[in-house]
Amino acid sequence: MTAQFNTFIPPVRTLMGPGPSDVDPRILNALSRPTLGHLDPAFIQLMDEVKSLLQFAFKTDNQLTMPVSAPGSAGMESVFVNLLEPGDKVIVCQNGVFGGRMQQNVLRCGATAVMVQDTWGKQTDLHKVEDALKANPDAKAVAFVHAETSTGVRNDAKAICELAKRYDCLTIVDAVTSLGGIELDVDGWNIDAIYSGTQKCLSCVPGLSPVSFSPAAVEVIKNRKTPVQSWFLDMDLVMGYWGKGGKRAYHHTAPVNSLYALHESLRILHNEGLEQAWKRHADMHQALKTGLESIGLEFVVDEAYRLPQLNMVSIPNGVDDAQVRSQLLNEFGLEIGAGLGELAGKVWRIGLMGYGSNKKNVDYCVSSLTRVLR
Ligand SMILES: Cc1ncc(COP(=O)(O)O)c(C=O)c1O
Repeated sequence: MTAQFNTFIPPVRTLMGPGPSDVDPRILNALSRPTLGHLDPAFIQLMDEVKSLLQFAFKTDNQLTMPVSAPGSAGMESVFVNLLEPGDKVIVCQNGVFGGRMQQNVLRCGATAVMVQDTWGKQTDLHKVEDALKANPDAKAVAFVHAETSTGVRNDAKAICELAKRYDCLTIVDAVTSLGGIELDVDGWNIDAIYSGTQKCLSCVPGLSPVSFSPAAVEVIKNRKTPVQSWFLDMDLVMGYWGKGGKRAYHHTAPVNSLYALHESLRILHNEGLEQAWKRHADMHQALKTGLESIGLEFVVDEAYRLPQLNMVSIPNGVDDAQVRSQLLNEFGLEIGAGLGELAGKVWRIGLMGYGSNKKNVDYCVSSLTRVLR
């Protein structure tokens, strides 16, 4: 008997976890338009617009700004493999899961990672960063996560970059969850290398990673003594396709339709305006906070550095984490996130990202949780 495979129709969900977030239907619509050749002049025009829109979203004039054709982890890897060479030293701040991923990347480049560790749920301590800079005058860069998705903490990107620059270090920033959700100013804050993801506050489909490198970072890449260990992520080669010197050469087949989607999502952000988008995320966080606190749930992260787009609350005593989350999913089609690493079983992570950061989702989340917890 031959097997039967049916068309996949995804169940209806409201995505309020740590990402992916709900994709705006306008973006899904863009995704379904006919595929063009990846060197078609019409597609190249779209690529140019995507680059300009990313410069807008990152607040940068960096020429080396483009989306890597793979998820946020590939953006992370592209930053480290292009900037680092064996023997280099990087100060890596960790106060959650994703700082640990930075450390792994540094080590795999044959470089040394000097770790600045802080408690999960607390901000990176600037004094510790300065102590590490003083103790390691040969450090090449300081790397940190702007919005730590595993805890809902916002690290003080501006202050960490200011410190790093005082000690002549490059700055490397993970903005996977921050781009489009909270203030971010690549040029104003002196960020040298940054990567993000499309599936969080841009509300686009997963699978692309916007990156940007400052002129100083480009100089470092140009003056490498060793070739970049990854052929696919070698920025010099990738830029041959993304417009170095105006000429385009085949490097890899671009994810054409995903780039239509990214273009539409950035256009939506551009129309709303960055400040307005940041304000909407802040306002929706306040509404969610009021609702969740009214049913007795407590936030873990101090309000002064809490992310509006990723809300971490303690699971009340005696409540079964997995049962609540599966009931929310099965009875309400609502996805919220579990705790990661040392926070597993202790917290829930509720996302209010991009298109999903709206009053309807806030109310739906509070009313569904109220019914399940009752
Ligand atoms: C802060 C942060 N960095 C990196 C990543 C990795 O991104 P991706 O899952 O798209 O590879 C994530 C994903 O959740 C993240 O939240």
